[in-house]
Amino acid sequence: MPLQGLHLYLFFFIIIIFFAIIPCYYCLQGDTLNHYLQEEDGYDSGAYPSYINSIEDGHFKVKIFDDKVGSISTSVHKVNVDDFKPNFDNNHDDDTEAFEKAWEEACSSEEGAVIVVPEKKYRLKPVRFSGPCKSNITVQIYGIIEASDDRSDYEEDERHWLVFDKVENLLVEGGGTIDGNGNIWWQNSCKVDKDLPCKDAPTALTFYRCQNLVVDNLTIQNAQQMHISFQRSKDVQVSNLNVTSPEHSPNTDGIHVTHTNNIQIANSSIGTGDDCISIVSGSQNVQAKNISCGPGHGISIGSLGSRHSKDYVSEVTIDGAEISGTTNGVRIKTWQGGSGIAKNIKFQNIEMHNVSNPIIINQYYCDHHKPCKEQKSAVKVKNVMYKNIKGTSATEVAIKFECSKAYPCQDILLQDVVLETEEAYQTAKALCNNVNLAELGLVLPQCPSLSSM
Ligand SMILES: *[C@@H]1O[C@H](CO)[C@@H](O)[C@H](O)[C@H]1NC(C)=O
Ligand SMILES: *[C@@H]1O[C@H](CO)[C@@H](O)[C@H](O)[C@H]1NC(C)=O
Ligand SMILES: *[C@@H]1O[C@H](CO)[C@@H](O)[C@H](O)[C@H]1NC(C)=O
Ligand SMILES: *[C@@H]1O[C@H](CO)[C@@H](O)[C@H](O)[C@H]1NC(C)=O
Ligand SMILES: *[C@@H]1O[C@H](CO)[C@@H](O)[C@H](O)[C@H]1NC(C)=O
Ligand SMILES: *[C@@H]1O[C@H](CO)[C@@H](O)[C@H](O)[C@H]1NC(C)=O
Repeated sequence: MPLQGLHLYLFFFIIIIFFAIIPCYYCLQGDTLNHYLQEEDGYDSGAYPSYINSIEDGHFKVKIFDDKVGSISTSVHKVNVDDFKPNFDNNHDDDTEAFEKAWEEACSSEEGAVIVVPEKKYRLKPVRFSGPCKSNITVQIYGIIEASDDRSDYEEDERHWLVFDKVENLLVEGGGTIDGNGNIWWQNSCKVDKDLPCKDAPTALTFYRCQNLVVDNLTIQNAQQMHISFQRSKDVQVSNLNVTSPEHSPNTDGIHVTHTNNIQIANSSIGTGDDCISIVSGSQNVQAKNISCGPGHGISIGSLGSRHSKDYVSEVTIDGAEISGTTNGVRIKTWQGGSGIAKNIKFQNIEMHNVSNPIIINQYYCDHHKPCKEQKSAVKVKNVMYKNIKGTSATEVAIKFECSKAYPCQDILLQDVVLETEEAYQTAKALCNNVNLAELGLVLPQCPSLSSM
């Protein structure tokens, strides 16, 4: 008898715990958009995720999916966005509702769904495709999706146009085009018109908190600001993308990676007005292969450490890239006064064509009008390898290591790096401050003296 009583108590105890946990779980899930906006600025003061510590130095493993995400063996539910357009559609200017309804139907389908965007032109205001969904989803974009260029449509959230939020097992493909129609935003950028206040413009395509994601065979062009951003996502494969915007378009990063773990970017061509690929804080296991980059600002890690932030990036491999006519080739940039580390980074098999700063580490990065003053702390830079990098520099200084006095760059290796100036009459130079450097094979130009430490 007393034993039965005990069971009963235990039972109620479990029930109580259960109901105590569930609402809390949902409150954690209910991250607000505001929270997410703040993160984008890189001010996120969140602690360095603990899993990063468990990664061994020098290992660059990226998980490759065995199966194609969204490949669904059994029946699939096909959802055509055209089916959600009103019958008598006088307003061809706005397909937002059709896309929202198609998503709703697909996302609530139990059997796996394919959303088809036929080979036509569509026009969308900002849309948020939210998960979690009941099953795997494939989005097949054959047509052209164009952004509304009425800036008042973005009043609610000025920083995003299309967002996939918290979707697992998502495949986006089809060979179609996503066009941010960014002209109006570029004209109103403070970088273009110095009299205007500096304001953010929308990222064309954002994947936020997605897991098991494949983005394949798409053109993303003329983004309002960044083209594609992977944020707080995990296990991502990106391939066959064509990312383009004019060279003069301001802040139009091609592919932006932030707080994302395990991402591979392959076989893609990127040419914009800013970084082809930018990898910022909280990102780990980032691999880019066979990338063609230019025009733009090159492939960047950073900036890190702005406004005293503590930033971490590790296990990054850029393997196979052709970089042409950009302001930088492969760059690591950090601000004075930050902390954290960028480590275990490989740049290899890269061809440079007329790049202004082919190889550059800058721990004194500053894009304010007045110079930033030197500070005691810095984001550390450690274990960076440059291997088999060839080609031409648009300037005399082909290799630039501007490392900080307080935290010199550690374990930097140059192996088989040969860079010449584009202009035959100049001789390429290396500028090397506060760097702990080793050289292997043929390295040209060489640092004036390796005793700069
Ligand atoms: C959904 O995708 C995952 C990952 O690719 C796969 O393992 C799973 O079998 C898929 N589910 C269905 C129902 O197809
Ligand atoms: C991209 O999509 C188009 C149209 O669906 C298709 O014809 C083409 O083969 C695809 N390309 C790749 C590289 O998958
Ligand atoms: C990429 O897109 C641009 C602009 O739409 C186009 O001109 C170019 O041919 C495309 N490149 C590839 C490789 O598909
Ligand atoms: C990249 O392209 C090559 C050659 O076409 C192909 O073998 C490889 O599988 C592609 N990689 C990805 C991730 O699509
Ligand atoms: C590299 O990517 C391009 C597409 O950008 C593709 O056509 C080519 O086959 C790829 N090459 C290799 C060796 O993977
Ligand atoms: C190389 O780049 C410089 C500076 O960007 C430019 O002025 C020059 O015309 C380019 N040269 C070639 C051959 O493309």
